[in-house]
Amino acid sequence: MKIPEIEIPIIPIPLEKKVTLFIKREDLIHPEISGNKFWKLFYNINHYLEKNPENPFIITFGGAFSNHIAAVAALGKESGIPTLAIIRGQELHTRWKENPTLITAADNGMRFRFVTREEYGDKIQLTENLKIEFPNALIIPEGGTNENAVKGIQHLLNPETKSFDYLCTAVGTGGTVAGLSRFAAQHQKVLGFKVVIDHSLETTVAELSGKNNFDLFDAQDGGYGKITDENIRFINDFYHDFGIKTDPIYTGKMMRKLFELIEKDYFPEQCRILAFHTGGLQGIEGANDMLRKKNRGWIQFGK
Ligand SMILES: Cc1ncc(COP(=O)(O)O)c(C=O)c1O
Repeated sequence: MKIPEIEIPIIPIPLEKKVTLFIKREDLIHPEISGNKFWKLFYNINHYLEKNPENPFIITFGGAFSNHIAAVAALGKESGIPTLAIIRGQELHTRWKENPTLITAADNGMRFRFVTREEYGDKIQLTENLKIEFPNALIIPEGGTNENAVKGIQHLLNPETKSFDYLCTAVGTGGTVAGLSRFAAQHQKVLGFKVVIDHSLETTVAELSGKNNFDLFDAQDGGYGKITDENIRFINDFYHDFGIKTDPIYTGKMMRKLFELIEKDYFPEQCRILAFHTGGLQGIEGANDMLRKKNRGWIQFGK
């Protein structure tokens, strides 16, 4: 993977409050390998290809709507590397063609193995078996989070981001917030917005980061992958007010919780807050399909 030449814009979000909020549009870095996924994969892929130039093969894990699965499939297509995804939920074996994320991933050449939730839960065993079956493959963990991913996140930061007091990101597996924490300037505080129920995240992030300059907030809003009516309303209003699309699983939940904190005067006056738009917009189509089936309101800018 090459470092893209695109300059990522940092856009103001005007508020009637005495704090300044900007959003860094990492979602624009690549049409399919979007946001943090690009940088979490960057060193993983490049280090692997340096050592295994012949017959590369990538295996990874994820749920049916996973942004990480979508990104790895697109990367495989772009770089001509075959990809295999271990997907949570054996029932999808016969139903995956109803899922826009998996349809696009398959169009990008990805193959799937559908496993039961129990099998998926034991990733250590799954990984051991895959290593025996595919000894030369690059096996990337769920969400792409590992040391190479944390290292890649440094590319979200640049001289311009140093002018902010707070750096904010949505948190799933913790690699992104750990990278921001590790590479933040000394005066900066990193805020992570957890969209999953995982009580080990604080420890995971501290271990990956090696620093304690971060705080994690609960932004799960009904649970991972759950989409509340308030969440949909916020995403539609945010788009209407600021012209920026957010997704219902990560960035929409982060922005909603961040707005709540700003509203409650959590932040000192005059401080400068930067939120990272980590992508995930590919998931909107699948979310809208599900919302329509349930006769619920949907995200207005999705398909
Ligand atoms: C759009 C989006 N934002 C945030 C995250 C959270 O990143 P992490 O798993 O590194 O915590 C993800 C997951 O990769 C994501 O897809």
